[in-house]
Amino acid sequence: MVRELTEEAMKERFDYLLFSAGASVSRHFAPIAASVGTTVVDNSSAFRMDPEIPLVVPEINGDILKGYRGIIANPNCSTIQMVLSLYTVHREFGISKIVVTTFQSVSGAGRKGINELMAQIDGQEETIHFPRKIHLNVIPLIGEIKEGFSTEEWKMINETRKILDDPSIEVFPTTVRVPVIYGHSESIYVETRKPFESEENLKKVLQKAEDVVVKDEIITPLEVAGSDLVYISRLRVVKSNVFMFWNVADNVRVGAATNAVRILKMHMEMKG
Ligand SMILES: NC(=O)c1ccc[n+]([C@@H]2O[C@H](COP(=O)([O-])OP(=O)(O)OC[C@H]3O[C@@H](n4cnc5c(N)ncnc54)[C@H](OP(=O)(O)O)[C@@H]3O)[C@@H](O)[C@H]2O)c1
Repeated sequence: MVRELTEEAMKERFDYLLFSAGASVSRHFAPIAASVGTTVVDNSSAFRMDPEIPLVVPEINGDILKGYRGIIANPNCSTIQMVLSLYTVHREFGISKIVVTTFQSVSGAGRKGINELMAQIDGQEETIHFPRKIHLNVIPLIGEIKEGFSTEEWKMINETRKILDDPSIEVFPTTVRVPVIYGHSESIYVETRKPFESEENLKKVLQKAEDVVVKDEIITPLEVAGSDLVYISRLRVVKSNVFMFWNVADNVRVGAATNAVRILKMHMEMKG
């Protein structure tokens, strides 16, 4: 049943509400829903860095949902797939530094992003939502620049630290838009505090990460569209405490919808 989103409707108590209509809609309506006891899972950036609101990737920090009621924030898409691949490494060896370059699909900008690429493929020259033409191009800017980094890059810096519960991790991102429809890719360089010693040892720890697959062959976004897993490939050990890899996942599933549903399911299970 489709109903209009109104303040009145939000005052009706639901077990769960999933918000995915942008930050301004969430900021207006989610607190009303939470105030009557509804648990809200919010896809937008509105509450992610609020210290009172849990920012959750269930496989990593789902335990903080125990006994919690109110708004739960779903992280940024590029952050979710990166921390999923790295949380077991952080637990085992402690991550000190991450240098990441993203290759983010146009669907990360929503339906309008897909429409803009399609229109340009059909010959339209106009750019509306992206800062440059995206067809046959790459754009090294997502969001606006604020104190050196872009707003998308700040999300990766701050949300990684909040989810991994370690403000000392240094994160240096460059977020790039590419003419791919679904699936974000990331080239990631990692330094750990404790040495992991060998590639075999590192691989074992990476393989412990839930919903993450380590592959020997290269993985591209076309192959992961529609999947609920994160794919690690091109793993390279540079030193006993430094490694690099290629990380790919479906941004609208792993990076948004799947994570939101996993939050809801875990919250339900914890309530018993
Ligand atoms: N795409 C991703 O990879 C991704 C990843 C993580 C998080 N997110 C977050 O998820 C949210 C949605 O992103 P999206 O990519 O799905 O964007 P989108 O394609 O622009 O979709 C947003 C949807 O919200 C609807 N909407 C807006 N205001 C509404 C209202 N007042 N009542 C009911 N529906 C309303 C829009 O309907 P109309 O078209 O009719 O206006 C549209 O269908 C955003 O906050 C985004 O930051 C997206």
